[in-house]
Amino acid sequence: MKLPVNATKKYDIVSFPSFDFLAVEMKKKARGKNVLIVSDDNVAPLYLEEVKSALSGFFVHTFVFPAGERSKNVDTYLKIVGALAENGFVRQDCVLALGGGVVGDVAGFAAATYMRGISFVQCPTSFLAMIDSSVGGKTAVDLPQGKNLLGAFYQPDLVYIALKTLSTLPEREVRCGMGEAVKYAFLSESVTPELLKRGVTEELIFECLKIKADIVEKDEFDKGTRAFLNLGHTLGHAVEKLSDYSLSHGECVVKGLAKIIDMSVKKFSLSEEKKQKMISLLALSGTEPTLPFGLQEVLAETVHDKKREKSGVNFVLLKDIGKPTSVLLTAEEAEALLQ
Ligand code: NAD
Ligand code: GLY
Repeated sequence: MKLPVNATKKYDIVSFPSFDFLAVEMKKKARGKNVLIVSDDNVAPLYLEEVKSALSGFFVHTFVFPAGERSKNVDTYLKIVGALAENGFVRQDCVLALGGGVVGDVAGFAAATYMRGISFVQCPTSFLAMIDSSVGGKTAVDLPQGKNLLGAFYQPDLVYIALKTLSTLPEREVRCGMGEAVKYAFLSESVTPELLKRGVTEELIFECLKIKADIVEKDEFDKGTRAFLNLGHTLGHAVEKLSDYSLSHGECVVKGLAKIIDMSVKKFSLSEEKKQKMISLLALSGTEPTLPFGLQEVLAETVHDKKREKSGVNFVLLKDIGKPTSVLLTAEEAEALLQ
């Protein structure tokens, strides 16, 4: 399948069964010959050799770091840009992210900033990265103070999905991706419960991507409606940080979404029927929605959220399924809605 994204940089999201067409797709865009494949030590043993052989005609370099959110930091970023400099990369050369959202975010930030921006290809291998993080140009690393605090908007030149990579994705990671897929189902009824029940399919991936691309095209630099993509994330990011990243991003988004349902029901006096519809939808994520920390603790952690303003934190709430809205709340107001 193919989906064009009309952001300030125009690019395609393409899916194929394997990596066989990667070089062909890259050559449509690439002017440089050097490629640095950035991957983690779970994904590299599975796919690095295959991707290297698929990139005939390119000079391939590799950089592999330990898997996990704790690697999404300044140190990994500096090592990647260091590798680019040591190997004489110039602007036309390319960084290729082979992995989940962690690889994509840190490799993307390196591509965005090395020589003020070099060519960048995303090869997402987790379900979450396929439907969310590889598209839209948000790149970042975490700081000790909070998630994604150092980053840049930088669209890729190509998003290449090799569907075969889903076959090795651990069950827990599939559920994490389902957390984000359910988020899309809350944002638009085009991701139906029936589609979610069928599990990870190419159709589900592209239905989610259509929603993401549409929002990104309308508000690429996150000044308004792009905040809707952060549904469940304000509390989710706080829980992720409090768990010291032992809980994954997708799991924390589900916990955040559960609280958004409670807050929305109270704020907009939603009917019991609507509430139950939302709870059933969330259950399709397969992740336990309970908050593992006290409410006060979680709310205190939201002070590091990027969407905060002087007078409070912006929460995306739901007037109904498919009807998100941004609401600026002080900590007291948020707490009152959560009681
Ligand atoms: P991840 O990159 O840590 O991947 C999850 C785990 O799955 C890792 O252990 C990884 O090694 C493994 N893995 C990935 N693909 C595999 C495969 N095919 N086979 C076997 N193992 C595989 O995490 P994630 O869930 O992909 O992404 C979460 C990250 O993405 C977070 O840092 C989050 O902040 C970020 N994110 C960014 C955006 C954005 O717009 N940039 C959006 C959503 C999430
Ligand atoms: N995942 C949030 C965004 O892309 O804006």
